[in-house]
Amino acid sequence: MADSFDLIVIGSGPGGYVCAIRAAQLGMKVACVEKRATLGGTCLNIGCIPSKALLQSSENFHELVHGFKDHGINAGDISIDVARMQARKGEVVTANTKGIEFLFKKNKITWLKGEAKFTGPNEIDVGGTAYTAKSIVIATGSDSVPLKGVAVDEKHIVTSTGALELDKVPAHIVVIGAGVIGLELGSVWRRLGAEVTVIEFLDRITPGLDNEISKTFQQILTKQGFKFKLGHKVTGATVAGEQVTLTVEPAKGGDAETITADIVLLAIGRYAYTAGLNLEAAGVAVDERGRVKTDAHYATNVPGVYAIGDVIAGPMLAHKAEEEGTALAETLAGQHGHVNYGAIPSVVYTWPEVAAVGQTEEELKAAGIAYKIGKFPFMANGRARAMGALEGFAKILADKETDKVLGVHIIGPDAGTLIAECTTAMEFGASAEDIARTCHAHPTLSEVVKEAALAVDGRPIHI
Ligand code: FAD
Ligand code: NAI
Repeated sequence: MADSFDLIVIGSGPGGYVCAIRAAQLGMKVACVEKRATLGGTCLNIGCIPSKALLQSSENFHELVHGFKDHGINAGDISIDVARMQARKGEVVTANTKGIEFLFKKNKITWLKGEAKFTGPNEIDVGGTAYTAKSIVIATGSDSVPLKGVAVDEKHIVTSTGALELDKVPAHIVVIGAGVIGLELGSVWRRLGAEVTVIEFLDRITPGLDNEISKTFQQILTKQGFKFKLGHKVTGATVAGEQVTLTVEPAKGGDAETITADIVLLAIGRYAYTAGLNLEAAGVAVDERGRVKTDAHYATNVPGVYAIGDVIAGPMLAHKAEEEGTALAETLAGQHGHVNYGAIPSVVYTWPEVAAVGQTEEELKAAGIAYKIGKFPFMANGRARAMGALEGFAKILADKETDKVLGVHIIGPDAGTLIAECTTAMEFGASAEDIARTCHAHPTLSEVVKEAALAVDGRPIHI
């Protein structure tokens, strides 16, 4: 007879492992299937964590080379040891993945090692053994979108996975796609000295962000040495020796040109990953983009089968997957799990950081919602001045009538941390006045948020 559980989660990324842990906390007998050799999914192994480790190392290097002199700190000859930087990244990843293994043991979660495939609506096979469960959760995540004519070899033409593994600083890296991955990983190698050219199909970078923020972001990155080729598409790539030659055409038609690089990073988005799951055996429906279809409670069309994280609709973010994992486990335990999709922050971990929560100006305009804007620059903040981090601003969008905060967009130092306050405010349905009247410690960067909130009512103090 097949081994039986209350809950089997397929995939141990932030969606899957959080769902497994929360369900175990609530008393369920839980198993989690993972085919990778380590737990933690894309996020811990080849995504959020290794990319942030490299961003930190490269930021330290850049600061030492360019920033410290201004403070009177002279460091002599500075060089980058890429092998050590990569080894450190590996140590960071291992500490995190081992951490999940520890949490699984602590919560008595069984790790079923191998690839899960459905053999029926409530039954899976892992390595030739059958398992059943009252509930099965698909949390199989996502993978890089391929591009016709650009064959990834993870050596010369890489996805984010290969870009995290480079063993030397490339002379010229061409990034296809001016999205989050391209700009974060482009920053890593730019800071270490690579020439970086970004080719983007649209006429702007970071299409999901507020347009004004994107424009400032592009200006700042350009000052850092990024080259942008907007409104262009790559139609072919050939590798000869150590060099890649790309054929690039204007998106709206025109003459093709060629660009050479030693590394090409393909980063044009990610797609829901269900390969090998044999969804057909269970009869689980997917949408036109291959994402598993669910209702508001993460139930698929098959009773007892659920899905969360990157494999379903919505932003492909680790914390979104985690919230869904928690909400689903609580719902399965008879509680009222809930995710507020109106208050999911997003952060780009470049320097400066870019962070957002809620609606953009463009979205508010499209929805016909009348709004007020409050903006405040980091240049006018004492702490930012002390840090020498003067670029960027915070922008708060509030309902014209009620003053309720509808969106916050920040580009500047520590924007990713500052957005947490704004997310909490939105979760509590705060008005801009609520933020403006909250005492913020001085001198901190968070005063930029307070001043932007004051600016919504036309009364910032320090500008
Ligand atoms: P995943 O993390 O993709 O995990 C799915 C797991 O399922 C994988 O381990 C896979 O091996 C396993 N699996 C798949 N099929 C099977 C099967 N049939 N049987 C067994 N196991 C299976 N998000 C952020 O919020 N912040 C960031 O800073 C950030 N940085 C990123 C940087 C990069 C370079 C990339 C690529 C992504 C980044 N993301 C970031 C996105 C984030 O990694 C994802 O949103 C998140 O990992 C999704 O979690 P998940 O649990 O849905 O799936
Ligand atoms: P993305 O969706 O952020 O950006 C892709 C970019 O490529 C877009 O600007 C798009 O217009 C462009 N593009 C699409 N097709 C193209 C083509 N043929 N030629 C040129 N440009 C083209 O996707 P990205 O950067 O691959 O990241 C995938 C996802 O991973 C993100 O959406 C995000 O959810 C997640 N992620 C999150 C991070 C974070 O939270 N800090 C960091 C890295 C990834």
